[in-house]
Amino acid sequence: MNQAQLHRLVARQSKEKDSTALFELRLATNLTLIQQLFFSLYPENQHGAYFNKLLDLLPKLFTSRPSDLKEQDLLRLNAGNWYQSEKMLGMQMYVEHFNKDLNGLRQKIPYLKELGVNFLHLMPITSRPKGENDGGYAVNSYLQVDKRYGTKADLLALTSEFRKEGIYLMLDFVVNHTSDEFPWAKKAIKGDKKYQGYYYTFDDRTVPDAFEKTLPEVFPETSPGNFTYIPEMEKWVMTVFNSYQWDLNYTNPEVFLEMLINLAKLADMGVDVVRFDALAFLWKKIGSISQNLPEAHTLVSLFRMCLQVVAPGVILLAEAIVAPTDIVKYFGEGQTLGNECEVAYNASLMALLWNSIATKKTNLLYKSLAHVPGKPKDCTWINYIRCHDDIGLGYENQLIWELGWSPELHRKFLLDYYCQKLEWSPAMGLLFMYNPKTGDGRITGSAASLLGLEKGIMLKDKELINQSIAKIIMLHGIVFAFGGIPLIYAGDEIGTLNDYSFRNDNAKKGDSRWVNRPLQDWDAVSRLREETSPQAQIFHTLQKLIQIRKKNPLFADNNNLELYHTGNDHILAFGRSNGDRQGLLVLCNFDEKPQVIETGWIKKMGYFTKGDPLDLVSDQQISVKSGLLEILPYQMIWLKKG
Ligand code: GLC
Repeated sequence: MNQAQLHRLVARQSKEKDSTALFELRLATNLTLIQQLFFSLYPENQHGAYFNKLLDLLPKLFTSRPSDLKEQDLLRLNAGNWYQSEKMLGMQMYVEHFNKDLNGLRQKIPYLKELGVNFLHLMPITSRPKGENDGGYAVNSYLQVDKRYGTKADLLALTSEFRKEGIYLMLDFVVNHTSDEFPWAKKAIKGDKKYQGYYYTFDDRTVPDAFEKTLPEVFPETSPGNFTYIPEMEKWVMTVFNSYQWDLNYTNPEVFLEMLINLAKLADMGVDVVRFDALAFLWKKIGSISQNLPEAHTLVSLFRMCLQVVAPGVILLAEAIVAPTDIVKYFGEGQTLGNECEVAYNASLMALLWNSIATKKTNLLYKSLAHVPGKPKDCTWINYIRCHDDIGLGYENQLIWELGWSPELHRKFLLDYYCQKLEWSPAMGLLFMYNPKTGDGRITGSAASLLGLEKGIMLKDKELINQSIAKIIMLHGIVFAFGGIPLIYAGDEIGTLNDYSFRNDNAKKGDSRWVNRPLQDWDAVSRLREETSPQAQIFHTLQKLIQIRKKNPLFADNNNLELYHTGNDHILAFGRSNGDRQGLLVLCNFDEKPQVIETGWIKKMGYFTKGDPLDLVSDQQISVKSGLLEILPYQMIWLKKG
């Protein structure tokens, strides 16, 4: 049982219904854990006073939480794991690319509802440097809304409207770094020792050189190395991401306390899910790659345990785009099982789906998913195919070898397939952070362009267009059914193509991720009634699939995903069942030719007991008199039992 469940139990059994009394109960329930986590990072003999400060701080943070949010916290506490429900359906967007600003977004709530979206991830909206700012991930403030989006009052109006409409909001907490214009950084630059201690600053290259021996580079093309020299300060500062993003020094307990205040205040603006950005990087150690270190987990759990006491209705998302075995650790392990982040990106599934599209085979997907350790029952995935970032090819080399492929050549093939090096490939992606020395690189591009729609339209090739529509629908359908919160990247619901305009903007042209950050095409939206356009076909089919998901509790995440081997390497088959009587079987064909599977195993699972079962996608019954089932190119079947 994780701490959240314990709070639920304690709240139910206690006679206290008053929110302050319940806060005190939560504090008492979490305190031993908080103390252990805190002292394991900040030894008591040196930092005891900071623990006392933390104990003073928690009641203050609770007192300042708005009363309507306190009420909502108690409702959520009672309601259980709301984030695992089949009703959850998300969309991620840049506010300025969607409809100008926060008020513009508010006007588009009817569009979101029409599609069935009830969970939104807004890309950073706080103030940032004028020039390069990594799309707002270089923060000048954690709380001040950047003018281009509106005001804090606009944000509060929006979150209050979202609450009325039943829409959950996720915002980023850029917990690993600030911009070099952040007030702490500015003071550090001016020579203030206290704030120099908020970052990793060094007088000479001794420590940076020691770190560099094992630290990889995140942005080798645009920001090589992990340290930047600041002449005014006459010091080197650690900058793992871009040179203008300064890594926070969490070995300093003051940094933790200040950031906890920022976190609680973010939650107080009506944020339901806090996206812990780049959390794998939170702790650094010479001689390591400084990612996924045990202390980073301790720190995340410490944030979690504290925020849970103050705002139990708010949950955390781990943005850890790391190896599958490392991702699940952000759900917590051992004593902190279920006590770190409730949600994590299913980056493994995402990258494997792109691999399956290029190879037309699902063998690496099966092999890799079999290696992903199970997640705790109270945690869930964000399942997605595209987001604002690139697609990394972080597959396990060993598993590629086991398939008889060379990992190096396989990655080269994927880069060639997606980045326009192969004449026959329908994909129109771009290379990102390509390193000619190692051959490593990543892929950018919108879902539709990577899946052939751009090329199909360019060549006026009807067949290619139809094939790409089927692929777009199939990949989305998989993430709708996989168990977790599906997250659509804004624009993908209408098959938006690559946006090449970033090449004309000096602040953006070095970062090809901007190709997949297009403006929402409201013109196309206004033409969705023209049923035959690719946009309309994609939108209406996704809308229908979303409605099916929302009506059917089989789609909720009960940690019940099962993969089935069909004996056909082009097919993905997985099931979700609630006991013997009800079930959902998803069958997808990743090949451009029809494929056939044997169906004895499906019958054995009882799908045909009550006659021919319904495919929820086509609304037709599936009959398999011959014992074989033919699945068309890029067809997805959602077979329902019971
Ligand atoms: C996350 C974001 C990415 C950003 C990085 C640094 O990975 O998704 O866009 O560049 O953090 O903040």
